[in-house]
Amino acid sequence: MQNNTFSGLFVGKNVIALQQVDSTNNYLKNHLSKSEPLPEGTVIMAEEQFAGRGQFSNRWLSQPGKNLTFSLLLCPSFLNPDKQFLLNIAVSIAINDVLARIIGCNCKIKWPNDIFFGDNKLGGILIENILRGKEWKYAIIGIGINVNQTEFPESIKNVTSLKLISSVSYDLSAILRELCQSIQERYIQLRENHFEQHYQEYISRLYRFGEQHRFKIKGSEKTGRITGVDEEGRLNLDVNGEICRYGFKEIAYVLS
Ligand code: BTN
Repeated sequence: MQNNTFSGLFVGKNVIALQQVDSTNNYLKNHLSKSEPLPEGTVIMAEEQFAGRGQFSNRWLSQPGKNLTFSLLLCPSFLNPDKQFLLNIAVSIAINDVLARIIGCNCKIKWPNDIFFGDNKLGGILIENILRGKEWKYAIIGIGINVNQTEFPESIKNVTSLKLISSVSYDLSAILRELCQSIQERYIQLRENHFEQHYQEYISRLYRFGEQHRFKIKGSEKTGRITGVDEEGRLNLDVNGEICRYGFKEIAYVLS
């Protein structure tokens, strides 16, 4: 893959395309820790990650050359670090905007920031923040989208790809360009304080919102109904008429 630039954008204007890397998030983080400046909006993409990382220290497995695995550098110093979830919302709806255009409105956001189609995971986001004092210096936005992969290891359950959904093979660069454009639009809106609009859009696309479902909470299963997400990003769940709030390590969806 060649290094490339997308005109008219700052997100994706500078793209560093790598054949193979441990993790694009690690690559970006190492670069920044060596004080090597990179312009905001820089994208590191890899054809193959041999130690791709997901949430909860999980591995992110992706067949080389088939999918999008990239990390994007943002500098959200205009936001207080305690507002981290707002960036999470902006990036999630930006990705959902693009994927829903391709495969339809059955494409949802599974709290906090997975992209789902039906009951299967299509993509994930791993945001890692670097603070300096009280300033939110950098956000490394790692994004993995299953695009053209049609076979997954047995061990990975509830997974899908754009190609499995539509039987179409996609041009990875074209989707990357659309994602960069969409993230830029949503990021500019975030800078302009469109918090309420973003929140409403996030909630309106939330997987299993308002429905009764089983959740695993502190080791036992309970039935609850998602009623919202608070400012800290905790999931609000109505359990037998009582609203309970959970951080993302405290609750898991029970998937069929
Ligand atoms: C998740 O759903 O668990 C988050 C997955 C994030 C995967 C992407 S792929 C590009 C970037 N580099 C990584 O090592 N992880 C993220």
